[in-house]
Amino acid sequence: MMLIDNVARRSSIKALRLICTRTVHSGQHPSKNFSYPLLASRPAARALKPLARCYPSICRRGAKTKSTVEFDDLSLGDLPQASITAGLEKRPGKDEVPEYPTVVQQARNNMLKFGHCVVLTRVGGFYELFFDHAETYGPLMNLKVSKRKGSAVPMAGFPAHQLERFLKILVQDQNKSVAVSEEIPNDASKKVKSGELKFDRKVTRIITPGTLIDESFMDPWKNNYLLSIHVDHEALKSLGPVQDTPGTDKVPSVLNLPRTEVGLAWVDLSSGDFLTQSTDVASLPSAVARIGPREIILDSSFKDQRESRIVSMLQEDGYVITYQEPLGQKLALADWIPMLEDVIEDFDTTNFSPAEVAAGGSLLHYVNTQLQGSKARLQAPISHQPENFMSIDRNSLRALEIRTTMRDGRQEGSLLHTLRKTVTKSGTRLLIERLTEPSMSLPVINDRLDLVEEMLEYPQLQQDLVIQLRRTFDTLRLVQKFSFGRGDADDLVELSKTIFRTTDIANLVTEHSSSRNAIPLNAEATEADTRRRGCLSSLSNRFDLVSPMKLATRILEAIDEDGLSERHRLEDDEESAIIEMAQEVLGQEAGEEDLKQMPKKIRPKSNAIAPSFKSATDGREDIWIMRRSASKSLTKLHEALDHLTRQKTELESSLKKSLSAESLTLKWTPNLGHICHVKGKDVARAAAQIAKSVSSTKSTRSFHLPEWTHLGTQLDETRFRIRSEETRALGDLRAEVVQNLVKLRRNAAVLDELDVACSFAVLALEKSLVRPILNSGTTHNIVGGRHPVVEAGLGDQGRNFTSNDCAVGDDERVWLITGPNMAGKSTFLRQNALISILAQTGSFVPAEYAEIGLVDKVFSRVGSADNLYQDQSTFMVEMLETAQILKQATPRSFVIMDEVGRGTTPEDGVAVGYACLHHLHNVNQCRALFATHFHALADMTKDFESLGCYCTDVAEEPDGTFSYVHRLRKGVNRQSHALKVARVAGLPEEAIEIAARVLSQSMPTHPSKPY
Ligand SMILES: Nc1ncnc2c1ncn2[C@@H]1O[C@H](COP(=O)(O)OP(=O)(O)OP(=O)(O)O)[C@@H](O)[C@H]1O
Ligand SMILES: [Mg+2]
Repeated sequence: MMLIDNVARRSSIKALRLICTRTVHSGQHPSKNFSYPLLASRPAARALKPLARCYPSICRRGAKTKSTVEFDDLSLGDLPQASITAGLEKRPGKDEVPEYPTVVQQARNNMLKFGHCVVLTRVGGFYELFFDHAETYGPLMNLKVSKRKGSAVPMAGFPAHQLERFLKILVQDQNKSVAVSEEIPNDASKKVKSGELKFDRKVTRIITPGTLIDESFMDPWKNNYLLSIHVDHEALKSLGPVQDTPGTDKVPSVLNLPRTEVGLAWVDLSSGDFLTQSTDVASLPSAVARIGPREIILDSSFKDQRESRIVSMLQEDGYVITYQEPLGQKLALADWIPMLEDVIEDFDTTNFSPAEVAAGGSLLHYVNTQLQGSKARLQAPISHQPENFMSIDRNSLRALEIRTTMRDGRQEGSLLHTLRKTVTKSGTRLLIERLTEPSMSLPVINDRLDLVEEMLEYPQLQQDLVIQLRRTFDTLRLVQKFSFGRGDADDLVELSKTIFRTTDIANLVTEHSSSRNAIPLNAEATEADTRRRGCLSSLSNRFDLVSPMKLATRILEAIDEDGLSERHRLEDDEESAIIEMAQEVLGQEAGEEDLKQMPKKIRPKSNAIAPSFKSATDGREDIWIMRRSASKSLTKLHEALDHLTRQKTELESSLKKSLSAESLTLKWTPNLGHICHVKGKDVARAAAQIAKSVSSTKSTRSFHLPEWTHLGTQLDETRFRIRSEETRALGDLRAEVVQNLVKLRRNAAVLDELDVACSFAVLALEKSLVRPILNSGTTHNIVGGRHPVVEAGLGDQGRNFTSNDCAVGDDERVWLITGPNMAGKSTFLRQNALISILAQTGSFVPAEYAEIGLVDKVFSRVGSADNLYQDQSTFMVEMLETAQILKQATPRSFVIMDEVGRGTTPEDGVAVGYACLHHLHNVNQCRALFATHFHALADMTKDFESLGCYCTDVAEEPDGTFSYVHRLRKGVNRQSHALKVARVAGLPEEAIEIAARVLSQSMPTHPSKPY
């Protein structure tokens, strides 16, 4: 009754639309900032006809705000941990008599078969959830859960065109797996079996967070990786922990596990990227953090090993984990080929270790299961060789805030956010990839730097390229749609435009290279200058445009863009009509009594339930998306249509004349078919001549005329054939895209590289960055280095950043840094790690001069993060991270350690700090920056040959004011001036007084007023 009351207050269908909108939106958890556009997607129009069937759960009366399950009460995070084949055994036997109506039984069977999924069952124009799925997820999606008359089965549903919106809630926000069961037309024999049902229902795809293809809610700026991890479980078990952990039977660190080989394979179904890597258990956390998968697949045997450190490590990091029953017979490399795109020459089968093959096999098995038979075309897998890349361990990725900030996991304030000047989505994805796995190859880095320098030297070229790049679309994701047999006319148009822009870009680059080469190099030109001259031409040589251009031209010549936008306008109108229709259905659902209370205007019309099927006959929606010249058949069919249309006009005017009825029109209506229609004063005249009318009002009259019925049918048929021909021609174009897949992807890769290079050039100019000099040594010589993010933050407040030098390496491998709180120690540590990362990414760096020996691994131990849930105290976390550094850093690594040992007593802290310095200095022999407030460490390490002491300061003025001196100087600063910070932070004055007293008692030499 509640909704009817609401309805009664509103007086138009437009207002009703709002109710419907709010019905869907209400009940959201305030902390979840969803924004679901009600009219989500264009394909909505398809739902128009079946909507008349009555499954309108969200639009039913009373559907408003009766949610009883709170968002937070629902389990978030992990998928239900059922294996993906669980429940099969519970399927009813063939001869078993179904307990439910067939549609419900079909849904039930699917729920049993796909036990780990939320099952959405297509019923007419709706997707329905049944049984406990309706009860659990219905309220979560703010759908009314109801039971049909005489049935005990709970159900909840939504209009089919809103599928993406609800998938977002289930898959993207709730990390659920969703099985979408579609209607498959039954043939005659099956119809009998299924109780005369027109349709069977079959799960056509399972959608999980890691298997998105082209869903609109996918983040376009990030890769959406699905990762499979293969660990030889038996080996892990039989070897036992490498090191017993005294006093506890747990193995808190993966470092204590045997160094068993781990195979990784990951794929982005939306772009076709497919990679593998072999690593070991100790390096697994960092590898997974670098990949940043949206979903991880583990062998179901891991389920029995929940306590295993690997699983809990992945859970700690919040990954979505899905367990999969292992395949009886493991997929061999040869079995991968059917899922790969046609060009297999890139696929060197010798590159893959057995663990990678096992991981890849289980990955592809999973993908196949989710796709339920539709074909995926992935790129040939690339075996990622860790030695070719700088490794940034998991903690450094987080601590250096490369992708997101540490505090709230947001992009704003991260390195990526400060650096990103890319203008395309796939260029941004490449930038992220490069930032998280900088190169270890001098030629690769220099090539990248050459490009940036070239763009800086020729800013016009850079600007022209950016203009063209901005006009491109995301080719990788577009072509992937086509490889899945999706992709519509809009996608084709976007693709063709991108190919044309690519040609413009190729021309720009080629012209630039030839004009550069035309000018002879002067005598002083260095080898580097010569190399840089060729950097763009080697890039442009990678473009392969001949056959893509043919494709683009064909698309452009075939697709009528005006028709396409007209079609969209119409579809948008139809979507509005759907909403209106929903209200009308609502009216039908309401009882007689309820209807009486509804304002007349919105009472359902008598024929509202008849489908608003739009025939092509009345000529209004003669909107074609293909040009008539697109194929010979289309040309012929359009000529035929023109001819028939002329005949219609002639018939119309001859009828007007013979009946003396100027208002006569030849029309088609859903209820009456082909009719002649007259109005006004013509009604009487026509009535006199034509006895039998099929419909009449005071001022109109409609009647059938065999000539018009015959002609109209011919027109219909021709239009139908044009539509079929358009579909066929579109199919041809799609196939042509697939044939060009490899070339299109390669061209797109060149564009991405150009985008990143242009972006780095813009950045270098804006932020006064310099080109770093990379060498194969093990020293860092940075003059006037700055922290790119802190500098930007200070700049926003009108403050300056104090630059600092850092010459760490052969002479002084370890720098011990002391100094007051807030004087910039942590900033200095991080800026030098970031400069190394940026340099090897191929970017210019924030410094006046930078010469850097290649760094193989960057490690950071900064800040403390408790992990009490995992039974890890502050100090345990500190030690776990420190252990990783001391065990894994090599002489080529770069380590920053910030206040190691502060999580315990000063005595213990100093002891641990000393041990770390000792180990770094003597065993790891890596470059290390070590910041501490334990200045005793400076005394204790006096005899460390390659350790230098540096410090920051506080400058105190005679009037009692002070300022921080962020510039580092050689030496040790034994004062932390902590009380100054305490006072600035607002500690009560009395508390500060007491602290000062305690301090002067414990340190008599301390100045009497240390704050
Ligand atoms: N080189 C610099 N130039 C200008 N301001 C700086 C510089 N370095 C740091 N700062 C400012 O000082 C603040 C504190 O710096 P930071 O955290 O590095 O100090 P710290 O020495 O590590 O302090 P603590 O000992 O308390 O950890 C920064 O947030 C920044 O605003
Ligand atoms: Mg600090």
